[in-house]
Amino acid sequence: MAKISIEISKGPAAVQLPVNPVALIGSMVDGKPDFATVAAIGSVAHNPPALVTSLQPHRYSLKGIRQNMIFSVNIPSFDQMKESDYCGTVSGANTDKVKDCHFDIFYGKSDKAPLITQCPVNHALEVIEILNLQSHFMVVGRIVETFVSDDCMTNGKLDIDKVKPFLFVSRKYYSMGHYVADNSTIWKEIKLK
Ligand SMILES: Cc1cc2nc3c(=O)[nH]c(=O)nc-3n(C[C@H](O)[C@H](O)[C@H](O)COP(=O)(O)O)c2cc1C
Repeated sequence: MAKISIEISKGPAAVQLPVNPVALIGSMVDGKPDFATVAAIGSVAHNPPALVTSLQPHRYSLKGIRQNMIFSVNIPSFDQMKESDYCGTVSGANTDKVKDCHFDIFYGKSDKAPLITQCPVNHALEVIEILNLQSHFMVVGRIVETFVSDDCMTNGKLDIDKVKPFLFVSRKYYSMGHYVADNSTIWKEIKLK
């Protein structure tokens, strides 16, 4: 198999890998809840648990994160794909996305991290750091609370097949696919010599 080198100047959009589900970043901007859709989201630590996301400097939602240093990450199911696309297309500076999308909002311990009931997974996070990466600010957040919809659980565990997260790759949405193998057994198929 041959490999081709992709020019860095063409940017990450040239090779955008489907590594994380689409998420809705919630923040309170001037006292009003706002949600921005992101593809740039990643789980980066588990004890204590932390996530990163990256927002362009002019995002209205980033203003709210900076105001309160608290935000939320809501994982939509593909049942909320239309709403997610909407929240990634219009700005909270010009409209009330909660009203437009008929989101039912709830709060955990902080009234500065709005959470969306319709999204099966919700995290409230405190900002650890905001890094300036020029085109984006990378927000590192510590997860302080997590909520899941009870109808997405199977035998006491979160069931991804019920959550139905989706991906955004090269301006198209994809479902996550299906369970393939268990990571504690698949490696045994390679014989170590
Ligand atoms: C699927 C999708 C993924 C997106 N990912 C990001 C992202 O990772 N970072 C970002 O700054 N904007 C991203 N956007 C664009 C913002 O969501 C969009 O500009 C939104 O209107 C910002 O809302 P706000 O102005 O209320 O913060 C994405 C949009 C879509 C539709």
